[in-house]
Amino acid sequence: MEKNFKRTLITTALPYANGPVHIGHLAGVYVPADIYARYLRLCGKDVVMIGGSDEHGVPITIKAKNEGVTPQDIVDRYHNIIKDSFKGLGISFDIYSRTTSAMHKETASEFFRHLYDKGEFVEKTSMQLYDEKANQFLADRYVTGECPHCHNERAYGDQCEACGTSLNATDLINPKSAITGNTPVLKETKHWYLPLDKWESHLSKWILEDHKEWKTNVYGQCKSWIDMGLQPRAVSRDLDWGVPVPVEGADGKVLYVWFDAPIGYISNTKELLPDTWETYWKDPETRIINFIGKDNIVFHCIVFPAMLSAYGDNFQLPDNVPANEFLNLEGDKISTSRNWAVWLHEYLVDFPGKQDVLRYVLTANAPETKDNDFTWRDFQARNNNELVAILGNFVNRAIVLTHKYFDGKVPAAGELQEVDTAAFAELNEIKASLSANLDTFHFREALKDAMNIARLGNKYLQETEPWKLAKTDMARVETILNVALQICANIAVAFEPFLPFMSEKLVKMLGMGTIKWEMLGSSSILADGAQIGAAELLFEKIEDDAIQAQIDRLEKTKEDNKIKSWTPAPQQADVDFDTFMKLDIRVGTVLECQKVPKADKLLQFLIDDGMEKRTIVSGIAKYYAPEDLIGKQVCFVSNFAPRKLKGVLSQGMILSAENADGSLVVCGPTGPVAPGAQVK
Ligand code: MF3
Ligand code: ZN
Repeated sequence: MEKNFKRTLITTALPYANGPVHIGHLAGVYVPADIYARYLRLCGKDVVMIGGSDEHGVPITIKAKNEGVTPQDIVDRYHNIIKDSFKGLGISFDIYSRTTSAMHKETASEFFRHLYDKGEFVEKTSMQLYDEKANQFLADRYVTGECPHCHNERAYGDQCEACGTSLNATDLINPKSAITGNTPVLKETKHWYLPLDKWESHLSKWILEDHKEWKTNVYGQCKSWIDMGLQPRAVSRDLDWGVPVPVEGADGKVLYVWFDAPIGYISNTKELLPDTWETYWKDPETRIINFIGKDNIVFHCIVFPAMLSAYGDNFQLPDNVPANEFLNLEGDKISTSRNWAVWLHEYLVDFPGKQDVLRYVLTANAPETKDNDFTWRDFQARNNNELVAILGNFVNRAIVLTHKYFDGKVPAAGELQEVDTAAFAELNEIKASLSANLDTFHFREALKDAMNIARLGNKYLQETEPWKLAKTDMARVETILNVALQICANIAVAFEPFLPFMSEKLVKMLGMGTIKWEMLGSSSILADGAQIGAAELLFEKIEDDAIQAQIDRLEKTKEDNKIKSWTPAPQQADVDFDTFMKLDIRVGTVLECQKVPKADKLLQFLIDDGMEKRTIVSGIAKYYAPEDLIGKQVCFVSNFAPRKLKGVLSQGMILSAENADGSLVVCGPTGPVAPGAQVK
């Protein structure tokens, strides 16, 4: 629903300061938000773009514990890396602040207190998980256990990453403390809940009726949440890292990170605009746009709007929340803990001066409607075949020819022929499509439109062939190069939101001064006779070795991940010596090994156990080629009751160790022993 608006407040999800940002963050949130902000600024609109680091929450405290430093040390480190790398990529925040700032703590605290005083919370005492060894409650990620929905055994207290369900810690089956591995007990504690049910009809009308234009992925998620019925949500936690709950008798309690973080948008606006911030939040003629990833939808479309509504005082709700899906890397889910990512700060070092290449590739592959994949081969191909061969090539030809024939002065337009006016007509069609796509957050399509201007330029030079006319019809060459240069100037404008570094370089090369979106489509951006600068290459080819180095690095990460330590399974109850001795573990030598037909996981062994040959079936086929195990010595439980697996009688169990990624490594003696030797 279009409304008249005087200004736009763009917010970008505040990244957690427990790691650097990667291409997934960029493609999902920051590159699209930056494109949009730059576009509006070029249109002369009043716009502010707000960013900052999300510095509270359990993962930060866990990381600090693991490293033996304070949570503040962790967030200081990553806030600076994140902030600098965003700047390096040209993400044009008007402010990039943080949720440990004094302004934020004060703002979040006041927000809570206001809701508290208005009676907007429900106070509830409930039983929560408590680690008696660590002497603390186990909020969110401090507990792991089995997901009650999909039975993934490594679900967290706030969410199961396998099935995406958000959880309460007490929902977990067989919960364990992430601090000590202990089984927690239940202990009573008091918390404040925001009754989302109270806002259900309000939110339902606002989204489901008044914002049918939202992206289908966003609308659909909201609808399913609302259809399930909204429940009260706890907005405080028993933790010592966060904004203290500003209420008497709330010692040791802080605001839940998802309560304080979105308020960060407000705090950061206040920090940027101490006198006028309220117009950006409370004037109905302000348009608020939240750029986020899909895992943040419920917080931005349901929880934060309920908080703002509860606060009252004319706080406006977002006009749109153009959330993106996820970007994968080389076919696998990006993961900070598995180091499966392309980190922005590393990219900027490995590919200096190539910020726009990354911006281009991430926009061309933006996960706007479904998850998408980043591959280094595609990155190289898009640079070499599109940026170099289409965009760079056209601009270079136009400028080189102008120097060759006219000493670098823009030749007079003279009289336009049909092919020339047709080019401008097409340019204006592109402009209409480009603007419409940007207005509706279709940045992938918008980038294609912009590239079509360069394609148009190449086609124009191909059709008019000015180099052939130089001897016979110089007046015509003047017109053609004037048109070609005007197309270059249009490129500088059209690409500014997408590729600001290239645009700036081109603006300088063409001597354009200040650019505006309204110049787009014009056939007279550059004045006759104006001097242009020397032709500099806008893009250069990326060679195979640079790409191979990145691919090798990822391969190495994969290898490293196999043997990386992770939170091991909690220890089993004690056993005494006699119980242990009931397990008859022995060493055997592998005589034969083969795949079990029609069972892709199973290998069938023939083992020399010192007395006879026995058959054992083991589920390790994914990790070994059968021939590699022949002749090796393995440990096996010899008195494991025989059982049939896929029709083969297995007489024992071969022992394997399990890696973090689930891969298995067979266990055997480290020196030669006689088959049948007992392991004790
Ligand atoms: N830190 C959160 C994440 O990375 C996003 C917070 S967005 C805010 O998923 F609105 F809470 F700020
Ligand atoms: Zn699950």
